[in-house]
Parts: sequence; structure tokens; C-alpha cells
Amino acid sequence: MRILVTGGTGYIGSHTVLTLLEGGHDVVAVDNLSNSSPESLRRVGELAGRDATFVEADITDEAALDAVFAEHPPEAVIHFAGLKAVGESSAIPLDYYFNNVSGTISLLRVMERHGVRKIVFSSSATVYGDRNPAPYVEKMEIGAMNPYGRTKEQIEDILSDLGASSPEWHIALLRYFNPVGAHPSGRIGEDPQGIPNNLVPFIAQVAVGRREKLMVFGGDYETPDGTCQRDFIHVVDLAQGHAAALTYLEDHAGVFRWNLGSGRGTSVLEMLHAFEKAVGAPIPYEIAPRRAGDLPAFWADPSAALADLGWSTTRTVEAMCEDHWRWQKSNPMGYQPV
Ligand code: UD1
Repeated sequence: MRILVTGGTGYIGSHTVLTLLEGGHDVVAVDNLSNSSPESLRRVGELAGRDATFVEADITDEAALDAVFAEHPPEAVIHFAGLKAVGESSAIPLDYYFNNVSGTISLLRVMERHGVRKIVFSSSATVYGDRNPAPYVEKMEIGAMNPYGRTKEQIEDILSDLGASSPEWHIALLRYFNPVGAHPSGRIGEDPQGIPNNLVPFIAQVAVGRREKLMVFGGDYETPDGTCQRDFIHVVDLAQGHAAALTYLEDHAGVFRWNLGSGRGTSVLEMLHAFEKAVGAPIPYEIAPRRAGDLPAFWADPSAALADLGWSTTRTVEAMCEDHWRWQKSNPMGYQPV
């Protein structure tokens, strides 16, 4: 198939483009480069032995998207493009609703005009909010707790309504847990701009000497070691989940929701110690106050993805840390030249 990937130069996007190229698909990647570098796709091309087509465009620009669909008609779309920093989303909510929600509406309108009705959407486990205990199951009532999460929830609603409006739509909503790690080559990985919000990129920058120490947000939760537990998923497993969902959509119409996670909780301190093992050196840390909005325990019930897609995670926390570290140490400044 020819697949159009929005947000194709980003962290999860670039790993998914590589998986698709390796699976024999052709890829047109669209990105506005607001938080990523085209260098990721250049390296994806090296790893795959052939290139994706790259178009610099913004998903809120319908005319630009129309031109991409006319020049490179895709059979399906994987939609990653969007803003994703939880804290920032409370400071500039309009930017989040415009880019994520309006951008998706533009993309869907263009898809409809061009008769493309297969889409895999990058949602988030954050839509589960705090109303249910772990493990999270797709049929639970959702309720996100911040503007970023609400954009994901609203897009899920829009896609559900679209799917209900016509039997021609094939829609997958993928709820990711905590993606970490990097391609085992160490050539592509996560390259956060500024101070990382997420745990593993922060640990990696401490390990490489860019930051002094990790602040562990909260050591007094009701969990085995007092720190929060998360369901970490290797980004290559996640990329393969997208390919599996796409295959499923080829002969299933309707709207489908799948958790993409491992089904296991790993605590912040367990993750830190696993990363120390990969590095072979201690990583300085300090227990700090809790971060507002954090839930103590958060992991997936991934059984629906296994039953429907035959997909499950295969890469361990150790592999996530080793691969993330290989990327970080060989690219201490990410895609920027050192
Ligand atoms: C966060 C977002 C979630 C988003 C996901 C993407 C919040 C509240 N949630 O999830 O919406 O979909 O990222 O991956 O931001 N931690 C530290 N020190 C740090 C950074 C994190 O102790 O410097 C702890 C956090 O308190 C948390 C755990 O590590 O307990 C994981 O944090 P993070 O990587 O930010 O992911 P989530 O909060 O689970």
C-alpha cells in the first residue's frame, strides 16, 4: 500500500515509517517540522535501504494536504501529527485544540474528498483519566484530565461519529501507554526539545551529562516502592502495532479501539535502575514532591490487541533501556550536530 503518515518525522512517526518501509509499503510522510527534524527520515531511508517521500506541510492547511493527496494518492493514513506536552496544553489550550482537533478535521475532510477512508489514529492512554483502576480496558468510560488529553478524546469522538456515519470508514484508535526506547541501531530515537517532560528522556539526558540529576516526582505513593508505576512500551513494538492495525483495517470496516501496552507496571525507580544497568553507572536522583495530575498506577489490559491483531509486546524493559541508551550516547544532542 501507499500510506500517508502525518507527523512522520517525529519519534513514533519515524519508527513507524521504518516498519512500514520494511514491510514493503510506500510511505509519504507529512510534517510541519515544528518539533522534529527531517534528519530522522534521512536515517530511516538508510536503515530501510529506500526512502519515504517527505512533504513539509501543516495538517491545518487543507490546500497543502489536498495537493499531497493529489500528487501521491494514498490508500490509508496513519495520523500522528499533533502537539503533545501535557503541561503546555494547559498554558496554550487554543493551540492544542486548533492543531490537534481542527488539524484532524482538515485531514479527514481531505481524505473524504479524495475517497481515502482508512485511518489509524495516534490516541493515548491518557484518555482513561482517573475514573478507573488499572488495568485499563477499551470499553471503560473515558475522561481525560487536561487539554492535551481532551484533544485526543475529542478526536476519538469525531472519528467514532464519522465511522457511524458511513460503513465505508475503517478506523483504528490506538491508545498508547508510555512509549520509550529507540531503534536498536541507535540511529533514530526520541529527540525532545528543551527540558524533557517524560521520564526516560530525562534519565537519558542525566546519564549523558546534559542534566545534573533526576527528580523522582513522589516517593510516598501506595505502590510497592512508593513511586508511580507505568506501562512502558518499546517504540519498535508500538510501530509494529500500527502495522498490525493497518492490516486489520484492510478487511474490517468500522471503528476499533486498542490499547497498545505491555500489560505490566514498572515503577519509576525500577526504570531508573534498569537504565543504570544499561549505562553501567549510577544515575543521580532525588525524591521530590509529587507532580500534579500523576496517577499512582497505570497499565494496559492489552488482550484485545492480541485477540484481534495477533499483536503483543515482545521487548523487555532491559531492551528499552539498552536501545534508548545506545541512541542517546551516540547522539548526545539528538539530531543536532554536536
Ligand atoms: C505523560 C502524560 C501523558 C502522555 C504521556 C506520553 C502527564 C500527566 N501525562 O504520561 O498524558 O500521554 O506522557 O508518554 O504528563 N517522572 C519523574 N521525573 C521526571 C519525569 C517523570 O519522576 O522528571 C515520573 C512521573 O511522575 C510519572 C512517571 O515518571 O510517575 C512517568 O512520567 P511521564 O514519562 O511524564 O509519563 P506519564 O505521566 O505517565
